[in-house]
Amino acid sequence: MVELKERIDMERLPNHVAIIMDGNGRWAKSQNQPRVFGHRNGVKSVREVSEAAAELGIKFLTLYAFSTENWNRPRFEVNALMSLLVETIRKEVSTLMDNNIKLQAIGDLSKLPNQTLEALREGLEITAGNDRMTLTLALNYSARWEIMEAAKKIHWDATKGLDTEKLTEEIFQQYLTTAEIPDPELLIRTSGEQRISNFLLWQIAYTELYFTETFWPEFRKSHLYEAILDYQQRERRFGKISEQSA
Ligand code: FPP
Repeated sequence: MVELKERIDMERLPNHVAIIMDGNGRWAKSQNQPRVFGHRNGVKSVREVSEAAAELGIKFLTLYAFSTENWNRPRFEVNALMSLLVETIRKEVSTLMDNNIKLQAIGDLSKLPNQTLEALREGLEITAGNDRMTLTLALNYSARWEIMEAAKKIHWDATKGLDTEKLTEEIFQQYLTTAEIPDPELLIRTSGEQRISNFLLWQIAYTELYFTETFWPEFRKSHLYEAILDYQQRERRFGKISEQSA
């Protein structure tokens, strides 16, 4: 593991890593345990990966913790996930402070249960001044929702005098929930699924995608290092030819 970490080129670290944490339920099943057991163990991975990312010097880590579609799960599981969020945020705030990590959230937070929202608000407030790394939780997030919201806000601003003829990609992205966050260079999805599932659609236009068979509860620091090493072997050309981007 030490070896893996040492092979990482610190000059070419991704500035922003986004992760679709998937496979909690299937991992739990493989252990003959209820799905919630998978989510509980998934929190350990969140901890490990946040620590590894901060240690490396990654500035932004974004985790897809709850999608708009996740409300369709059995009520028991949704409630368990919401309680787990409250518990985790409360428990981890001191670790976030010790490590100078700022907590952020994106998504339609207004639909979260009061308790979850309260714990989240507390976490956001307490860590607001931290600047080593920004840990963003996508909660009740959907990229299409985000883009629709941006369109509505732009429409509203247009009625107040915004000249939509002058709208640029840079201005548009200021209307997204990620306005303060640069686009990710690397997106990881665990558990063998190869889909984006309505996550950061606008922001991943040029992002390198990395899919691994590992279930999220088994994802450890070494898996993050592997993903980064894989990313560093790729050539990012942004539509140019090799000679131009060299
Ligand atoms: C996907 O596995 C995982 C989720 C929907 C929830 C992720 C939540 C956590 C890891 C815990 C809370 C997180 C934080 C940041 C405190 P799945 O249930 O879709 O697994 P499956 O595809 O195998 O059914």
